[in-house]
Order: sequence, then structure tokens, then C-alpha cells
Amino acid sequence: MTAVEQDQPDFAIRLEQVALGYGDTLVQQDLSFGIRRGDVFIIMGGSGCGKSTVMRTLTGLLAPRQGRVLLRDASLWELPEAHRAPLLRQVGVMYQSGALWSSMTLNENVALPLEQYTRLTAAQIRAVVDYKLALVGLAGVGGLYPGQISGGMRKRAGVARAMALDPDILFFDEPSAGLDPLSARRLDDLILELCASLGTTMVVITHDLDSIFLIGDDAVFLDAETHTMLTTGNPRQLRDHSKIPEVRAFLRRGES
Ligand SMILES: Nc1ncnc2c1ncn2[C@@H]1O[C@H](COP(=O)(O)OP(=O)(O)OP(=O)(O)O)[C@@H](O)[C@H]1O
Ligand SMILES: [Mg+2]
Repeated sequence: MTAVEQDQPDFAIRLEQVALGYGDTLVQQDLSFGIRRGDVFIIMGGSGCGKSTVMRTLTGLLAPRQGRVLLRDASLWELPEAHRAPLLRQVGVMYQSGALWSSMTLNENVALPLEQYTRLTAAQIRAVVDYKLALVGLAGVGGLYPGQISGGMRKRAGVARAMALDPDILFFDEPSAGLDPLSARRLDDLILELCASLGTTMVVITHDLDSIFLIGDDAVFLDAETHTMLTTGNPRQLRDHSKIPEVRAFLRRGES
């Protein structure tokens, strides 16, 4: 590898001048940043600034109005549909609610994407499901229904399902919302463990400061007023050194 190549970070995702919104409403514009492979990357900003909307565009659900999203160096939204779908299988998503089917056991929930998208046999699928549930600390409870387990366990089951197809990148929308502090901390530890052991790039939307400082390698701060990003960087460094008042206020709980 040449010196020049070593200096180039290895990006899992890059945004180039991305603008997005709904109908006449512009949500965010001029978004240009990279998410390094193997990082825990935080998308932060006040309520309604557009974090979930950005996630929709990065996970293939909402076309940007402008700009490019590069996933593995392919321009996601410029690809024909037939090429976009397989690329998006590298991306796992854990939605806020966990999004499990309540009428299915945890085993069946995690098996679903494997049945849909792979040619694995039933026995192979069972082995993968057991492995994924064990990975998130839910070995042995796969026969239970989502309604029979705690909120923290449901979130972890959601992680297992999002990881069913071995994604390179895993997105979390407010993973700790609705969890008690201990369960939230366990989920953070799980994110760090999976990132370290599997090398999965983690993109986490959260406004939980403890979590941001504990798990975030890098971050982008979105602003609702100006409809664009104010800064990127390591959250602890931004807290201690950012000169931008909004960013300081957010990361210091209102103290400047
Ligand atoms: N489906 C939609 N159609 C129209 N407008 C929408 C839609 N979803 C969100 N919006 C608007 O887009 C803006 C950004 O919403 P978004 O949900 O992305 O914000 P957020 O940063 O995730 O907020 P929160 O922290 O509350 O989850 C908001 O003004 C919201 O009202
Ligand atoms: Mg949101």
C-alpha cells in the first residue's frame, strides 16, 4: 500500500452533497461526510432535525433530492433497482420499536430474512438463528414470543434479526429509547462487542449523551434551524473543543 492510500480512510458509506426531504419540505441539505469502516458512528441533533430521514436515505427507503450516497463505492441511488436490492442486503436496520412480528417466536423472527433471501436449508437456518440469538445474549429463549420478554430483550432480539444476513453495516434508530439505564448500557456494550468482534460498522441515532460518549468513534451533528450539518468528529473531542455554540450546548447538556 502506498503512503497516499494509507492516508485515505476506508469508508463504508460516503455522502456527497446530499439533500433530502418530503414533498415541499426540505429536511437536510449539503450533507457531505464519510462513515469509516468498523467505526461506531453517531448521527445526533435535536428532535425533528432529520436523523431518521437521513437513515431512510442511507438504508434505501427514501431517494435523496440531490447528491450521492456511496455504499461500497457504488452510488446507491443511481443504481438500477435490481442492483440496489442486493447491495442493501449488506445493510441491517434496527428500528426504534425493534420491529419484531408479535405473532412469531424470536426464532421465527430471526429466521424470516434467512428464509426470504438465502437458500439455506431449514437445519442450516436453525443453526444460524441459534448463533445470532446467542450473540446477543438470548440463547435458549428463541421459542418465546416478543410479548413474553422484556423491552431490553426485545431490542436485543431486534439486533439479532437485523444481523441475520451478516450485514457489513448496522443501523440503529434510538436503540436505548424506552429502556432503563442498565438495559440501555447493556445494549451499548452489545454494540461495542459486535463492532469489535465482527468488524461491523455501526451507525447509531441517539441523543443519549452517556451512550454517545461511551460508544461513538465519530459523529455528525445535524441542525434543524439551518437544515444542514454543523460539524463532524469524535463526540468527546467535540464536547471539549468544539467552538460551535449549538454543538457545545447539545453535548454539555445546555452548559456552554
Ligand atoms: N413521512 C414524512 N412525511 C413528511 N414529513 C416527515 C415525514 N417524516 C418526517 N417528516 C418531517 O421531517 C422532519 C425530520 O423528521 P425526522 O423524523 O427525520 O427527525 P428526527 O431527527 O429523527 O427526529 P426525532 O429525534 O424526533 O426522532 C420533521 O420535521 C418531520 O416532521
Ligand atoms: Mg427519529
